[in-house]
Amino acid sequence: MKEITSFSKFSKKQKLDFLVETFFEGSFDIRKRIESFWHKNESFQRAFDEFSENTITNFFLPYGVVPNLMINNSLYCVPMVTEESSVVAACAKSAKFWMSRGGMKTRVISTSKVGQIHFFWHGQKSRLESFFRGLIPDLKKCVEPLVFSMEQRGGGIQGIELVDKTSIEKGFFQVHVKFETCDAMGANFINSVLEAFATKLKESVESSPSFTGEERKVDIIMSILSNYTPECLVRSEVSCPIEELDHLGLSMSPEAYAERLRKAVLIANTDVYRATTHNKGIMNGIDAVVLATGNDFRAVESCAHAYAARDGRYRSLSDVNVKDGQFTFSLELPLALGTVGGLTSLHPLAKISLEILGQPSSSKLMEIAASIGLAQNFGALNSLVTSGIQKGHMKMHLFNILNHFNASEDEREKAKAFFVDRVVSFNAVKEFLNGLRKYH
Ligand code: MEV
Repeated sequence: MKEITSFSKFSKKQKLDFLVETFFEGSFDIRKRIESFWHKNESFQRAFDEFSENTITNFFLPYGVVPNLMINNSLYCVPMVTEESSVVAACAKSAKFWMSRGGMKTRVISTSKVGQIHFFWHGQKSRLESFFRGLIPDLKKCVEPLVFSMEQRGGGIQGIELVDKTSIEKGFFQVHVKFETCDAMGANFINSVLEAFATKLKESVESSPSFTGEERKVDIIMSILSNYTPECLVRSEVSCPIEELDHLGLSMSPEAYAERLRKAVLIANTDVYRATTHNKGIMNGIDAVVLATGNDFRAVESCAHAYAARDGRYRSLSDVNVKDGQFTFSLELPLALGTVGGLTSLHPLAKISLEILGQPSSSKLMEIAASIGLAQNFGALNSLVTSGIQKGHMKMHLFNILNHFNASEDEREKAKAFFVDRVVSFNAVKEFLNGLRKYH
């Protein structure tokens, strides 16, 4: 393939021409196939095209819902976008089970977000500290126009602090700023405030009569929000008398089952290989809600895993407690989500998701996403400590393979019956279909 210049300046049609000619020998069929994913509503398509760059088409993912999720005595039907089979089914099964046992009890513990200015300054630390204390009112003043509307909504800047990082490298300091962004994700707001602060800090130090020589130089390395938001924390839990767990149709006593779940979390708390998979299962549920509501799943993911390693060891985000005949399963994690602005209002399906959820506040959405994470984790552990994960997966796996071979309705029905107690594999399904097709 040859280097291509000014690709971004091509029209969408030219970009598509280039791709089809370069990779598919100009195939008309491939071009039509790619175009078939364009939305027929032109204004939706324009919006999708403009979310990103060099767009040529749309990438579809399934959009499903989990009904019967009871959170603090209110019922939700939760939209989820995921390509992974069994995720929605597992959540729906757990949600239904816990609905008749009081549902999820959730609580938003805190909602602060963080931004940082990383800079270098050389001089006597105490002189910078006293200068910075005096500068705080000026910093606040210079961002008044930026924070005005956020303050009207009850948010704004919660704290500004100078942090000494000189033990890491000589001259290294940070400004650590805490924000409340209410129902917005707030990334643009936070970054704009930080950049204004950085400019003010530099100008003020460089023109201050309190400093001379080297002290007058500030080297701002960067100003950026942090996706680590340990103070934007939510907790969700379910609880029931141990004997109630028997309603899961167990082949063991509910006490033995509860003990197996406790051990499953113990393993995830002490073994990083298992912890990573355990938390991946939690994020299977959370990411799907985050995507369906137009939130930033990369931010949520990186934060969740950083939080899971907050005490220096990566461990489970969920917990099991078996005490005095009561079984409690809980999940606590940071979730910085928004329900206004950004993609939440631009993506037509994100808007519909939020309507299905009753136009939640960002705190309510934190509770919903955490509860789905909890339901997902419970579903996964329930399978893992009983029948194993493959049994449930196999049905979906079978459907995917049948789709691959364009199986007819009749063939699907026959395959479902045939594989009910057999191991599903690509070859086994292929052979089965070949057998059926031979006689037609
Ligand atoms: C698969 O996507 C997720 C699980 O592996 C989670 C887990 O093991 O807990 C089933």
